[in-house]
Amino acid sequence: MLPEPNFPVKPDEFIGRQIHLDTFADALQSSVGTGRMASFAVLGDWGIGKSSLLLKFASTCSGSIPRILPVTFSVSKDISDYLRFAEALCDRLADALLASDSLGTAIRAEIENWKLTRVSLGAVAIDRKTRQYYLSSGSALLRHALSEAWEHFIQPAYSGAVFFLDDLHNLATPTVQDTALIIRDQFQSFGIEGVNLSVCFSAKRDYFAGIRSFAEPAVRFYNKCFLDPFTPEETLAYTRAVFGSTQVDLLGTSQWLYEKTFGHLYFLAFISRDLWSQYHVRRFTNPVHLWQGVFGRLERGKFTTDLAQLSDKEIAFLRAIAASDEDEINPAPFAQRFHPQYFRRLGDKGLLIRAGRGRYKLYHPLFRQFLQQHE
Ligand SMILES: Nc1ncnc2c1ncn2[C@@H]1O[C@H](COP(=O)(O)OP(=O)(O)OP(=O)(O)O)[C@@H](O)[C@H]1O
Ligand SMILES: [Mg+2]
Repeated sequence: MLPEPNFPVKPDEFIGRQIHLDTFADALQSSVGTGRMASFAVLGDWGIGKSSLLLKFASTCSGSIPRILPVTFSVSKDISDYLRFAEALCDRLADALLASDSLGTAIRAEIENWKLTRVSLGAVAIDRKTRQYYLSSGSALLRHALSEAWEHFIQPAYSGAVFFLDDLHNLATPTVQDTALIIRDQFQSFGIEGVNLSVCFSAKRDYFAGIRSFAEPAVRFYNKCFLDPFTPEETLAYTRAVFGSTQVDLLGTSQWLYEKTFGHLYFLAFISRDLWSQYHVRRFTNPVHLWQGVFGRLERGKFTTDLAQLSDKEIAFLRAIAASDEDEINPAPFAQRFHPQYFRRLGDKGLLIRAGRGRYKLYHPLFRQFLQQHE
């Protein structure tokens, strides 16, 4: 395997995460009997492997018997509201159906036509600017269009479809809570009506944290997969996949990689990729002496870019956190110099992680080391 830090791993090169893979496979298996597939939430911090797991789940569906149609959809920040989201989702469904190899010409034309006409929203004559407009028209569209697609295109060929929504936290209009709840309502009612459409989304680890009791059903509805960094065993499997065919000392290198990365997937991928390139210039068995160079490239390739998106005050705030003795900090001592907003803003940017109630930490010890070294 050649690591690519900026891309999700290919499903056939996917490593570890056995518990989550088993849970998903069990759910698929039991959906054969019940006629409805459970919905999943894959939750984790930045760069921890969310997209990779979603793609792996999707590939599990592709190979399943009876057939389940996976529809993958990356929720980007420019999807400005729930109505746009609903439209884009229907388009992705049409594309997934059209990509299926066993379609006759007639049904192909029907799907193309469905994609174009989907539904007339004329009936929803409310002021487009209100939040209710986007929510009610978006859900009307989904309800109508997906039921139609189920009946005409999905059910004849598949026993169900799963929508894989990557980075759902990006859909925050009107609010994250509204969208979590409305998606739950939508897919739960499909389940009740015997329409086997379900959803598997990824989002930040604290996605449900802002949802208070009113929306609790939205939380309970999903099987939650919290993604942690790799264990030392998974790190060894990763090291073997990258360096298995070289003369590199696998056990020593994997321990060293674990010491540096603590199993964080992005850093594992970045550092392994760097070592891999170096190995092909000059062979080595142990990478320890290469660390200075690797860290320098990590600074330029990643940490400097992290800081480039911040204001001076935000950078000062991060440095103050890095300078504290503890790994995890309590906001109180910072309250005088920095408004509490900073915690939220840097959290949204993925640089600060909420480690527990009233506890925060920088997203990775290597980032902390970088901030400490570059005053
Ligand atoms: N199970 C895995 N096996 C092998 N490599 C993995 C695995 N999971 C993640 N990776 C690698 O780790 C890096 C980060 O993974 P990925 O992009 O899936 O994370 P993410 O949580 O979706 O990140 P982001 O927060 O940027 O969306 C990538 O290089 C990916 O190839
Ligand atoms: Mg991702």
